[in-house]
Amino acid sequence: MTTLPDSLTLGSLRVDTPVVLAPMAGITNAAYRRLCAEQGAGLYVCEMITSRGLVEGDETTRKMLVFDELETVRSVQLYGTDPVYIGKAVEILCADFGVAHVDLNFGCPVPKVTRKGGGGALPWKRGLLAEVLEHAVAAATPYDVPVTMKTRKGLDDDHLTYLDAGRIAQESGVAAIALHGRTVQQAYSGEADWDAIAALVDHVDIPVLGNGDIWEAADAVRMVEQTGAAGVVVGRGCLGRPWLFRDLAAAFHGEDVATLPTLGEVKAMMRRHAELLSEHMGEERGCKEFRKHITWYLKGFPAGGELRHQLALVDSLVTLDDLLAGLDDDAPFPERELGTPRGRQGAPRKRVVLPDGWLDDTDGRGSHLHEDVDETTGG
Ligand SMILES: Cc1cc2nc3c(=O)[nH]c(=O)nc-3n(C[C@H](O)[C@H](O)[C@H](O)COP(=O)(O)O)c2cc1C
Repeated sequence: MTTLPDSLTLGSLRVDTPVVLAPMAGITNAAYRRLCAEQGAGLYVCEMITSRGLVEGDETTRKMLVFDELETVRSVQLYGTDPVYIGKAVEILCADFGVAHVDLNFGCPVPKVTRKGGGGALPWKRGLLAEVLEHAVAAATPYDVPVTMKTRKGLDDDHLTYLDAGRIAQESGVAAIALHGRTVQQAYSGEADWDAIAALVDHVDIPVLGNGDIWEAADAVRMVEQTGAAGVVVGRGCLGRPWLFRDLAAAFHGEDVATLPTLGEVKAMMRRHAELLSEHMGEERGCKEFRKHITWYLKGFPAGGELRHQLALVDSLVTLDDLLAGLDDDAPFPERELGTPRGRQGAPRKRVVLPDGWLDDTDGRGSHLHEDVDETTGG
């Protein structure tokens, strides 16, 4: 049996638990990162921002680069296809925003992104991938900031890219590679392939972070045992369950903890989440942002349809308090929800949308892909 790692080393950065909050667009903002970090140690990555948006001083991009005052390790995921923009954006993140870690997104399956050769489509162009990574690492090195990459297995089962991506990452000086065990074509459907994570661990010397279908702390332990990954990246499993990070931290330090909050405790967590969002964004916007989290928090708990409906329209903390008062504090955690998928799942895509002629060659060095300023759809 593998000895479990109890920390994670990414270049100069040491993380006290080998657990990373997956960047999730529209979710992993400063408020959510703080909420999760209050539960346990880990690396809490900011939602994705675009390199072009950052370099061109786009207002929306800058607004997303907000950090909580208690966030001592600033970690940001960057999206881009142009090596020069990426390099400049990394420089800005290090020099002006004091980030301690930059992750690069090569996993986004959204057609709007892959159509332009970005996200999960980019690793097909091995030469371009190397260029992007080299520019990022060159910009981060003077600041001693580690750069990591996050990717998928490939475009589809006939066009796998992850082993080459791992080798290229290693050769480019990237500190670690995170692999989501699905192809772009699968999007979020089916099951994550942990064997691919194990194959990548065998293929490279840099740390590999395993990602996909960790719903409970025990899944994270199982993934590391099965694959030899240096750590785990957790996305959908923590939606409406920030306490999963408490269980994960405990698990990697040898304790078997499964937090089962009562509805009263979940309500307190919901209140805290909405409050932190309100602090960061103002009350009205914060409460509106909070709406999307309500179904996740209440999944499996008794709450009437009308109350759920009202909660989905919440626009102030007072209203939230009034509505939460209608829920039964003593209702126990719905244990049947444990280990079950939450968040996006959906169906595989019929085909992966790519730029014309994308598959014709695998290099792409020097190609000029159009990059949008406001690409925020994520992974
Ligand atoms: C709502 C949502 C937004 C996401 N946004 C991003 C993103 O911006 N960047 C990224 O690399 N992955 C993104 N992802 C993918 C996750 O980081 C993760 O790779 C994926 O959900 C698989 O992990 P999981 O099974 O633990 O959820 C997103 C996923 C979800 C559900």
